[in-house]
Amino acid sequence: MKNNFIPVNVPLIKGNELKYLKKCIYTGWISSEGGYVKEFEKKFCRSVNRKYGISVSSGTAALDIAIDSIGISKGDEVILPASVIISCVNQIVRLGAKPVLVDLKKDTLNMDPDEVLSKVNKRTKAIMITHLYGLPVDLDPILKIAKKNKIIIIEDAAEMYGQTYKSIPCGSFGLVSTFSFYANKQITTGEGGMIVTNSKKIAEKCSELRNLCFKKNRRFVHYKIGWNYRMSNIQAALGVAQLERKNEIVKLKRRIGSFYNKKLKKIKKISLPIRKVNYADNIYWVYTIILKKKYKVTADYVCKRLLQKGIQTRRLFYPLNKQPVLKKYNFFKNKKFPNAEYLYKYGFYIPSGLGINKKDQEKVCKNLIEILKTKK
Ligand SMILES: Cc1ncc(COP(=O)(O)O)c(C=O)c1O
Repeated sequence: MKNNFIPVNVPLIKGNELKYLKKCIYTGWISSEGGYVKEFEKKFCRSVNRKYGISVSSGTAALDIAIDSIGISKGDEVILPASVIISCVNQIVRLGAKPVLVDLKKDTLNMDPDEVLSKVNKRTKAIMITHLYGLPVDLDPILKIAKKNKIIIIEDAAEMYGQTYKSIPCGSFGLVSTFSFYANKQITTGEGGMIVTNSKKIAEKCSELRNLCFKKNRRFVHYKIGWNYRMSNIQAALGVAQLERKNEIVKLKRRIGSFYNKKLKKIKKISLPIRKVNYADNIYWVYTIILKKKYKVTADYVCKRLLQKGIQTRRLFYPLNKQPVLKKYNFFKNKKFPNAEYLYKYGFYIPSGLGINKKDQEKVCKNLIEILKTKK
């Protein structure tokens, strides 16, 4: 059973990773002071058309710093999707600001732009655009209202490296945009993240925040509470090697998605990811399955059955309005996000990491089809 286990993600590490890692070890440059860090930052930010890249230890760290860097304070509101990873909301709450949620669209699985427009008011300081699962958020209507009302855009492109909105790279739309390099992302450094921006001022703030806010030219003197969120040279070495294959990686993601599309398209009990919208083709960061409610099969049931067959899956994000940790703040009292709740109950994703092979994809499909057949 163990050998046949199919994890939800297998990363693809097959280029110069080992060579660059060896260089770190042999030269002793293993901390954040090593040369790969700067090289990775420069190459990465260029690849998404940004001027500055600030590498950090995770996508969560990138969000903490990005949110802090734009000067959010108590009483400010930040609009964001109703179900995302908790990382999107942590620093908003720490700063005493209020997260304002918008529901997802059931088809694109992304935040509903119409609902964003309806939530904008005088207290709205920022809109966090978090692109989810494979398609980008429909940006134009949101960017328009943000511009008109001088609202800051924070763009969380953690899942979206290589994706574009109307041919412009995701990660190039926020005053500040962030990425994650966790092992299930298109580009991975194991753990890691990056903040990108065109603003010199924001870039300087972010690099100070990541490095304990040392006063310039005076080590161990601090004017603000910061973090040690630095990326190590070892992580950056992986990143530089991964970036060399960025085009191949995006193609491969789409090939994995197309394979599942072909094998699963006839299954009437499920909705597959949208292949294409007028602003983007799906990049299938993960391959999502949404069970149709009328067949009365839940994600919990299917995921457990798949696991019994040695196939690991993940549920979609848990709605923020239901998060126990946020209950005490009363941010979302009497607010309902039916689509986010629906997608949590009926949505999950199947193994779709870059390292998966066709045989395992076949096995996933065969088992999923069987499980859905047996349950009426
Ligand atoms: C949309 C989104 N934002 C942020 C993160 C956090 O990134 P990390 O796991 O690197 O902290 C993730 C993680 O998967 C994510 O999916």
